[in-house]
Amino acid sequence: MTSVQHCRKPVLLLALLSCTLFLVGGVNGLYPGFYSSSCPNAESIVQETLKTFLASDPTLNGPLTRVTYHDCFVRGCDASILLNSVDGNTAEKDAVGPNKNSLRGYEVYDGIKAALEDACPGVVSCADIIQLVARDIIVQDGGPYWDVPTGRRDGRVSIASEALANLVGPNSDYDTQKNSFADHGLGEKDLVVLTGAHTIGRARCVTIQNRLYNFSGSGQTDPSLDPTYAEQLKSQCPVGSSNSVPLDGTQFNFDSQYYQNVMVNKGLFHSDAAFLTQPYPKQIVEAESDQYNFFVDFPGAMVRMSSIGVLLGDNGEIRKNCAFVN
Ligand code: HEM
Repeated sequence: MTSVQHCRKPVLLLALLSCTLFLVGGVNGLYPGFYSSSCPNAESIVQETLKTFLASDPTLNGPLTRVTYHDCFVRGCDASILLNSVDGNTAEKDAVGPNKNSLRGYEVYDGIKAALEDACPGVVSCADIIQLVARDIIVQDGGPYWDVPTGRRDGRVSIASEALANLVGPNSDYDTQKNSFADHGLGEKDLVVLTGAHTIGRARCVTIQNRLYNFSGSGQTDPSLDPTYAEQLKSQCPVGSSNSVPLDGTQFNFDSQYYQNVMVNKGLFHSDAAFLTQPYPKQIVEAESDQYNFFVDFPGAMVRMSSIGVLLGDNGEIRKNCAFVN
């Protein structure tokens, strides 16, 4: 899909040139099998190590998938989300709101990285590990398989305020989400399809507190939420609760249930419900509620998101430890 779009250029010569570059270099210079000679077992090491972590905590499926979005929208897919804060700099992972006390599972990347460093020191980037992990989780949860283009390198900078500036919140309206995705080179269909990742995982009650009890400062429940579902959520999430709820009822099944819920006003976040407020995203929700369409579209959207702002060649570095610059 990316290749088709990429090759649709108005000037023939440019078109031929860019298509040739695409075929040789892959997506933005990334290509599947980047490590096939430098670290032939890289992808199986990722897969096997991940399996052991998921076996002891299956609920890591959600946060480890979500990391792709939180990494790629901030300085591109460069694993800046994995860097620790240091004296004088609060890193992305400590951004209160989107990341701190919300994202978790960083130990999985550390474990995978350690196994990869044993097998092939200094070869496989943390930025690629993030993408491979998400693909493997989605397959394990019954979703579609795709070849992950690899070859990203790791960034050296991570700043909490940039996470706040680039990630939109769960109370966002449609245009806010659309504009944020456009700022990162992604279209409306990418937005709706990628958010289909809300088919797995859980959300902390605090993220829907306002929607349930004080929507837009009204003291009322968000009127776009199905009333019966709202009551159910209120019993699971009393005011001030530290509980969590599944995003779509089937937190370990990567399926089209999320879209079916959104269609009947049972999307968990106001941002999900906002897809029904305009004809085009509503039409996409309806199309993706057919699991066949969702499984065809999701991999292409992931490949597009995972090629945002990647560092290639001599740029960046291959971190020895995903939490620290070398
Ligand atoms: C405008 C877009 C988006 C908004 C507003 C949004 C918002 C959220 C929020 C508020 C949570 C709950 C976090 C918490 O409990 O602390 C969440 C969870 C999640 N999000 Fe999104 N998200 C968006 C896009 C995406 C994308 C693009 C992906 C991946 C491709 C994604 C994957 C997930 C997953 C898997 C979870 C479950 C996390 C868990 O189990 O801990 N989201 N999202």
